[in-house]
Amino acid sequence: MPVFRSALLRFADDGMALFDPDGLLAVGPDAQGRQRVLAAGAWSDLALRFGSGPVEHLPGRIIAPGFVDMHIHFPQTDVIGSPADGLLPWLENYTFPHEKRFVAPDYSAQVAQFFIAELLRNGVTTALAFATSHPASAQALFVEAQHHQMRLITGKVLQDRHSPDGVRDDTEQSLIDTEALIQRWHGVDRLGYAITPRFAPTSTPEQLRGAGELAARYPGVWIQSHVAENLDEIRWAHELFPASRSYLSVYDDFGLLRERAVYAHCIHLDEHDRALMRDTGAVAAVSPTSNLFLGSGFFDYAEADRVGMGYGLASDVGGGTSFSPFHTMLAAYYVGREGQAKRGLSLSPQHLWWQHTAGAARALGLAGVVGNLQPGCEADFIVLNPQATPLLARRTAQAGSIDELLFAMIVLGDDRLVEKTVISQAKYGSCA
Ligand code: GUN
Ligand code: ZN
Repeated sequence: MPVFRSALLRFADDGMALFDPDGLLAVGPDAQGRQRVLAAGAWSDLALRFGSGPVEHLPGRIIAPGFVDMHIHFPQTDVIGSPADGLLPWLENYTFPHEKRFVAPDYSAQVAQFFIAELLRNGVTTALAFATSHPASAQALFVEAQHHQMRLITGKVLQDRHSPDGVRDDTEQSLIDTEALIQRWHGVDRLGYAITPRFAPTSTPEQLRGAGELAARYPGVWIQSHVAENLDEIRWAHELFPASRSYLSVYDDFGLLRERAVYAHCIHLDEHDRALMRDTGAVAAVSPTSNLFLGSGFFDYAEADRVGMGYGLASDVGGGTSFSPFHTMLAAYYVGREGQAKRGLSLSPQHLWWQHTAGAARALGLAGVVGNLQPGCEADFIVLNPQATPLLARRTAQAGSIDELLFAMIVLGDDRLVEKTVISQAKYGSCA
């Protein structure tokens, strides 16, 4: 049984950080042979029971839960940093032309390999990812994630209108392909399927209806899409679906709001929309680097909390600018500051970190499974080295509290802070 001794970060059910400066993490196989957390806490409390065998001692390091990225586009790995006036010209001029390339299985496989390696290098151990409209792209990502035994959810994008040749799919075939991929991959190892209408403007009502029917037939499957990101996009959605009360309601009208439905952005929602999210169990993937880069706006944390809708953090690469959860948490902090100017809200470092780990897992319906290091959780974790850069070493050495330590890492951290990423294997092992 692997036992680790180092500083240890995890989260209580209420989202508060639990930090043991001298901690113990014990990991062991469940009935299926998958590694899970057996014990986590202070060394002094647990050493008698778990510390008598071989112990991997990691002085100066912090073991923390692997990060959970609630929304990322694997085919946009090479689209990062493409500037545009806003979402719609960015899609037309950069994203759609690039996504055409994923019709080729070899190309999809090559990018999938890089993408998964980049997630792991940045400490992300669970992701809900868009593929492209080509079934081969989802297939390639599943194969690569399975190879790493990673917990990953993805789906073939549905987009049967207002999309150029090469990415536009056929209504009937797109639904047949979606169901075939669900049956092939959902629940295999640690993989999950997400029914993936790109966004309402690029799907016909028939395609959205078919997606909703599949969502009802397969309640354990996820749904992912975009909503209320950009004002031009919202105007367009209203024109195309005039009978729906709001852009968000379009999805509700087609049975696409429910538990395990994840909507990226959710910036320009009104009070009814937020209540609808809460009441249906749908959640928001908050994507601050993307929203800042594309000039989309600011997620309203205060209103989301007041109404009680669920949310968590996401990179939204390639509208988002970084795979690093540290960059995403810092951008979320800036956005929270913007809200603070209006309403006295400031996001604490514990809350930021929780939104990208246990909070994101809860929003995905995976509380107690990933995103935390409480007993029973799958043993996906990262080893952080606060001495990774001279400035990090100086600053973290002067941190006088857990909040100061987490803040220093959020502000100064990037992939260099992540020394090692460990994935819960069916047979114990680790990957860089
Ligand atoms: N809306 C529809 N497609 C996309 C996409 O690929 N990225 C973002 N940020 N928004 C979208
Ligand atoms: Zn997106």
